Amino acid sequence: MAMAMERKSAAESMRLAEEVLGFIQAERLTPEQQSQIVNDSIYNFTNHVTKAILSHRKSVSTDFSVVEWAGEKAVFKDTKGDEYLDCLGGFGVFLLGHRHPKVVRAVEAQIKRYALHSQEMVDPLRGYLSKLLAYITPGDLQNCYLVNCGTEANEMALKLARLATGKKCFISMEKGFHGKTLGSLSASGKSTFREPYLPLVPGFQHVPYGDADAVETAIRMLIATGETVAGVIVEPIQGEGGVNIPPADFMPRLREICDKYECLLIVDEVQTGMGRTGKLFGVDHWDVVPDIMTLGKALGGGVMPIAAMVAKNKWWDKMEENPFLLGSSTFGGNPLCCAAAIAGIHTILEDDIPKQAQEKGDYIVGKLNEIKSNYPNVLLDVRGAGLLIGLEFAENHQGYELAKHLFSKKILVSGTINNAKVIRLEPPAVIGYEQIDYLMASIKEGLAQIS
Ligand SMILES: Cc1ncc(COP(=O)(O)O)c(C=O)c1O
Repeated sequence: MAMAMERKSAAESMRLAEEVLGFIQAERLTPEQQSQIVNDSIYNFTNHVTKAILSHRKSVSTDFSVVEWAGEKAVFKDTKGDEYLDCLGGFGVFLLGHRHPKVVRAVEAQIKRYALHSQEMVDPLRGYLSKLLAYITPGDLQNCYLVNCGTEANEMALKLARLATGKKCFISMEKGFHGKTLGSLSASGKSTFREPYLPLVPGFQHVPYGDADAVETAIRMLIATGETVAGVIVEPIQGEGGVNIPPADFMPRLREICDKYECLLIVDEVQTGMGRTGKLFGVDHWDVVPDIMTLGKALGGGVMPIAAMVAKNKWWDKMEENPFLLGSSTFGGNPLCCAAAIAGIHTILEDDIPKQAQEKGDYIVGKLNEIKSNYPNVLLDVRGAGLLIGLEFAENHQGYELAKHLFSKKILVSGTINNAKVIRLEPPAVIGYEQIDYLMASIKEGLAQIS
């Protein structure tokens, strides 16, 4: 039960802010501060955030409580400085690890000049980042709309598809995930997230992921019944849906189908983009050029939050007369985020992060398959592309038990109480082979205990 709280005086509010600024600015926390921050965090989440979060976090719901306080390369540190190997990677955010020095340097240099844009004058970094995205994205994707997070990018993509085609409906995928704002949620295909908010935006027809025939049939049926179809929205590999890799002809066929029915192919690369799956973009596995691509997570180099919608100029041009028709975002594409993204892209290209993701991902999947052969009734499947890897268990509790065991070995993976049947591994591409071997040994040990 949350404790009721009345408004506090300015003096008390400033005292709290000063205390926290002291923590932020301290070179080293005292032992008292280390545990105070843990206790404060549990109190604050119970009373001022969402207390249910606490029961979903292994870091506070297991035998001991810790909170994250620092991060470097592939590790998070708690307030005491204990290290946790980050094999969850912020679901894709930390492709370059934590606080990559090149990204931090760019952000520091930018913040010394100016941090946020005027909203009136033209801000050059937004232009440069947009040009850079046009350089690196497939085919003739060219115009960018920069926002703060993945769901906003998808909202823009859906709106642009309607504007550009003058059509209305969308085909989206069962188990697809595109974010939690109303439009993106309408496209998403998981009942747990959608059901409490029904009715959502009308006009979304869900079909089984990976089934191109079902996409075509849905479009045909909509048209036959007097509807119009603006686009198909799809992840090239489903992340949140359980690391689902489609058949090899799925994405190329979607391209053909969209061309045939003159609707737009919107590819959500928020999680798969920037090198995570072993190619710079998920669609590069099949050489497919979408009409609109959305990016997020790793785009900010693991340091700043930024997302983007990148569209072909022939669609974008339809709203050229009114640049605010699609939307406008106060913070979208701000100079700090753009500086981080530009440095992040440079690092991804210079260090060939997609190749690293591919090689390390192959190594992990190879080892996991060896482990799987000893536990065929517990670990049913190992699948992945690059460093987006899923371990499918026979039962929910087995996945959760493994995630809990790994946490006791100071390794973070994504296994939630709600659905741990598929555990996701998304380590940073900068993870070392020694760290990977430690992860593998710990998974092996965990499976031995569970079975
Ligand atoms: C494929 C995909 N699209 C969109 C989103 C939503 O991104 P955000 O949480 O930044 O709004 C996510 C987040 O997990 C995602 O995985």
